[in-house]
Amino acid sequence: MNYLSLVNKQNKIKESYLKNMILSTYTNIFNETISIEKESKEEFIKLKEYLEKKNIEVGIRDSYRDMNTQKQIYDYYLNKEGIEYCNNYVAIPGYSEHHTGLAIDITIKYNGKFLKDDEELICLDDEKYKEIHKNLSKFGFILRYPKNKEKITGYNYEPWHIRYVGKIPAKIISENDLTLEEYLNEFGGVLVVNKEKDMTSFDVVREVSKILGIKKIGHTGTLDPLAEGVLVLTIGKYTKLGEDLTSLDKEYIAKVKQGILTDTLDITGKILEENSKRITNIKEVLKSFKKTYMQEVPKYSAVKVNGKKLYEYARKNEEVELPKKEVTIKEIKLIEKDENTFTFKTSVSKGTYIRSLIRDIGESSNTLMTMTNLIRTRQGKFRIEDSYKLNDITNGDFNILKIEDILDYEIIDIDEKLLKKIENGVVIDNAYNIKDKVIFRYNGKKIAIYTVDNKKLRMYLKLC
Ligand code: DAL
Ligand code: ZN
Repeated sequence: MNYLSLVNKQNKIKESYLKNMILSTYTNIFNETISIEKESKEEFIKLKEYLEKKNIEVGIRDSYRDMNTQKQIYDYYLNKEGIEYCNNYVAIPGYSEHHTGLAIDITIKYNGKFLKDDEELICLDDEKYKEIHKNLSKFGFILRYPKNKEKITGYNYEPWHIRYVGKIPAKIISENDLTLEEYLNEFGGVLVVNKEKDMTSFDVVREVSKILGIKKIGHTGTLDPLAEGVLVLTIGKYTKLGEDLTSLDKEYIAKVKQGILTDTLDITGKILEENSKRITNIKEVLKSFKKTYMQEVPKYSAVKVNGKKLYEYARKNEEVELPKKEVTIKEIKLIEKDENTFTFKTSVSKGTYIRSLIRDIGESSNTLMTMTNLIRTRQGKFRIEDSYKLNDITNGDFNILKIEDILDYEIIDIDEKLLKKIENGVVIDNAYNIKDKVIFRYNGKKIAIYTVDNKKLRMYLKLC
């Protein structure tokens, strides 16, 4: 079931959706048997009970409609109210969200009586509706046609038309004051995940994409299955910011086994060499690594040489010269040690491979060393203490970060004249002497990120 299926003036109901839809029956306030999508009905019943405790009585007038029913409704209103009313309130058959069974027209009591279909406009601003709307997302519903979003949804404010989308999307949509259209096409944010061992970074992306119902999700800085900790995900239009976030410095805690070297440089690889040589002056050796040096990229990595990934060469046993990259080990400190292993904490520049660092530490002291555990504890300002396990995310216990929590680019307030240009993505002069990127703000609202390009400033990311 796709609870985020988008049906609006531009998007017709899909046959594939209808094939998978499971409907359940319900008795509406007029004592008629109607149909509602199964999970939506179950959640509506919980919402109704919850509202009853707050002394708000809510009923259902209508939910699932087939093409014929929508046509009858459309023709009725076309005759009674005319085409303008229909454009504002009634969908053409095939383009109504009611075909999904996920939309419910609710009704409240007005002067002690439930309202009929064509009476509802008299209580648009009823306080009871406000209270109902505040509680919708707890049960996975959103107000589908809110005030001031008519241009986006295509319909006037309908306080009675609620839509089931599932609890997590509903929470994000309501917290960010979005419509379903905006959530699916415009939303952007950053989610800091605490990756567990034995998952690839892409496994995490896939899971989160499923939970949020958003297809476009990226990760910044891969963690191998062996590694755990901070994996920063960019969601929706923020995937564009991937590069900005990958380049941040990182902090790790790594565990090392002495006397062994593998082809992958970590314990998951094939053992290449083993001996009984151990070093005991680890503290001093680590200290000598607080430096900038040229680090050889691991053979088993996704770095490309001549258009081909290094691990592809490695798997086929093909010779290739491993590139070297400048890295800086900013901090490095021993945490604990025993006879064969030790654990250290380090803060490093972008592009540093910890398993290569460990190999290099070994080489510098003529000892074989292999990484056995790795935890990324920080990436830029994103710390493991503020990250969420997949289990937390599944339970809706997470926070999506917005631009102000993420990047420290300078913010410049602009006037209306510049706003027009920026909204249209016009290239402007770099009158502000910006070095990298700038956030333009109008009336307290962040409008766009611009980037320096050939002494000018051009659009990098539209924020609203
Ligand atoms: N009232 C909504 C827009 C519909 O007819 O589907
Ligand atoms: Zn409706």
